Amino acid sequence: MQRKVTKAVFPVAGLGTRFLPATKSIPKEIMTLVDRPLIQYAIDEARAAGITEFIFVTSRGKSALEDYFDYAPELEAALEAKGKTDLLGVLDSTNMDSGAIAYIRQHKALGLGHAVWCARRLVGDEPFAVILPDDVIAAEKPCLAQMVEAYEKTGGNMVAAMEVPDEKVSAYGVLDTSEDDGTLVKVKGMVEKPKAGTAPSNLAVIGRYILTPNVMNRLNDKKSGAGGEIQLTDAIAAEIDGPDGVYGLRFNGQRFDCGSKAGFLQATVAFGLSRPDLKEEFGEYIDDLTSSRAASQ
Ligand code: UTP
Repeated sequence: MQRKVTKAVFPVAGLGTRFLPATKSIPKEIMTLVDRPLIQYAIDEARAAGITEFIFVTSRGKSALEDYFDYAPELEAALEAKGKTDLLGVLDSTNMDSGAIAYIRQHKALGLGHAVWCARRLVGDEPFAVILPDDVIAAEKPCLAQMVEAYEKTGGNMVAAMEVPDEKVSAYGVLDTSEDDGTLVKVKGMVEKPKAGTAPSNLAVIGRYILTPNVMNRLNDKKSGAGGEIQLTDAIAAEIDGPDGVYGLRFNGQRFDCGSKAGFLQATVAFGLSRPDLKEEFGEYIDDLTSSRAASQ
């Protein structure tokens, strides 16, 4: 039987150039959807999937992430003194057990594959999850939990997959499949950012992975791929004919690309409308906006 997945790697060392100037001094992962930073959604999803060790691959200028998951004694004392115990509860999910979270630096942004490789000593010889916090997924059962279930059945490398339109396919890693039961696919090929018209399908990989130690070993080669970067896709693809194989899971849920401005705004609206404390006031605003836009066309 394969080992349980208890470790997750969060690569957060990218430059976040699409959100400049904001990301000049704020890590992209600290930007908030409603009132919670992107990284909080990622950590909550990992916890719900049984992850107990959290490994951040960071870079210069990301110290706000470390502070976010640390205790804030002055803030907690001030809230207590004011009797705001409900807000103390809100802070609970930002507290980590001692030793549960580790930070390692990627000194140069050489690509996602390189960022994951930087975590090799902390991951050790066991299967691990990778979560890209800028892919936020709203789902009844959290996406990573769906993947862990599928991994327990297959024991193979697992990537989260979704159909994307033709004009977007070149922005993703794309799967070529040999078997497909509508939910789980067996992968026979993977290509990172295929040139227009050459993609093997419209089934794209998004930022959730469960990987075997062999993928980490493949990353030791540090081969550059698409865009001159060390690509995680290439290391996973090298395992297609390996003992564990590669699978894609069409997860249930809605994914928001919060690494792009339009995706971030869509997520803000969707999460705002789903919040009990906001949906009435915010919903009225959206309804008014929609009707005045319709009237002006
Ligand atoms: P992106 O492709 O979104 O790059 O990386 P980015 O730097 O975050 O943002 P833009 O494109 O400049 O706006 C996808 C994920 O991989 C991580 C990023 O932090 C993000 O979570 N990453 C990427 C690294 O940790 N290191 C790298 O060298 C590259």
